[in-house]
Amino acid sequence: MKLDTVACIDDLRRLAHRRVPADVMGYYESGSYSETTLRANERDLANVNIRQRVLAGAVNRDLTQNIIGVPAALPFALAPVGMSGLAYRDGEIAAARAAEKAGIPYTLSTLSICSIEDVAAAVTKPFWFQLYFMKDRGFIADLIARARAAHCSALVLTVDLQVLGQRHRDVHSGLTVPPRIHLKTVGRILSKPSWVANVLTGKRKTFGNVHGRIPGTENLASYRDWIGSQFDQALSWDDVAWIRERWPRKLIIKGILDVDDARIAARTGASAIVVSNHGGRQLDGAASSISMLPRIADAVGSDVEIMFDSGIRTGQDVFRALALGAKSCMIGRSYLYGLCAAGEAGVAKAIEIIAKELDVTMALAGVRTIDQISKSTLEN
Ligand code: GLV
Repeated sequence: MKLDTVACIDDLRRLAHRRVPADVMGYYESGSYSETTLRANERDLANVNIRQRVLAGAVNRDLTQNIIGVPAALPFALAPVGMSGLAYRDGEIAAARAAEKAGIPYTLSTLSICSIEDVAAAVTKPFWFQLYFMKDRGFIADLIARARAAHCSALVLTVDLQVLGQRHRDVHSGLTVPPRIHLKTVGRILSKPSWVANVLTGKRKTFGNVHGRIPGTENLASYRDWIGSQFDQALSWDDVAWIRERWPRKLIIKGILDVDDARIAARTGASAIVVSNHGGRQLDGAASSISMLPRIADAVGSDVEIMFDSGIRTGQDVFRALALGAKSCMIGRSYLYGLCAAGEAGVAKAIEIIAKELDVTMALAGVRTIDQISKSTLEN
């Protein structure tokens, strides 16, 4: 299948599995433990019924939306995805460029392969930087200073990963960072020659922002151990103030799934919160992200901007989340499949697919603008 015959995100996903070794795909695809929450995210979105409205004159549709006060061409941003640079050579740069061309925000993960500076040198508009809070405050302060120097316009503070939920496939995996061919991976890596030619021969293959900080061989077990030792389980809401002092620009708090937490987060002065369960990768058994969205939106929607993440695979899903109270969404795996399949062109394809699906959905639901998408555009 070629990119021009790709019809949907699922096609990109199939191409991704064809091109990228199973150990890398396993990291991207996994949910934690039994993957109950991972499955619930997609299932519950699919169960939200959109109201079909006919002859409603929904012409000249406008998909633009302000996201944290900045005009965006579409009502979604690219979510932070760790190790995107193992999907495709310089993957973070490719994704950031595709986002910039599409007129939407890109979020660089702390655990990216390309560094903050690499991405900043490759784009012309500001991107967002996602931050994990680690025990080494000097290092965090340094990362924040680097994001400021790179003109990042928002800091996306992830609050749902102070300890890593186990993903069983990562325990079985032979993936190392940088990726290496060894007994366990030789067959799986050599069966993906275009990935070998593209990623394995590339220049950037380690964690660009935290290089040298993860001890040992930097396989997924040492990554897990490092998170265990470095990520701060004692983190509290007071620490958000510590970040605020160092980051005067916009702050987005990602990983809120509870009404009480949303109320506290709204009081921090954050520009937005992201309703998310980390794509089903953290607390297995947690509610799906979409099932919590309406409650959180009702509680704090007038105090803080609400973004939605976890499970979006279609434009219809974006419509559902907007109807249930989000002002915008984040997409993660959906664009990552495109990145795996074809680099920047694949990410552009993923964005285009979701945008077109959203546009047609709006037409068939009788809606002309993003702001008109509300609970009344859904079936009860
Ligand atoms: C990091 O964000 C991960 O989900 O592994």
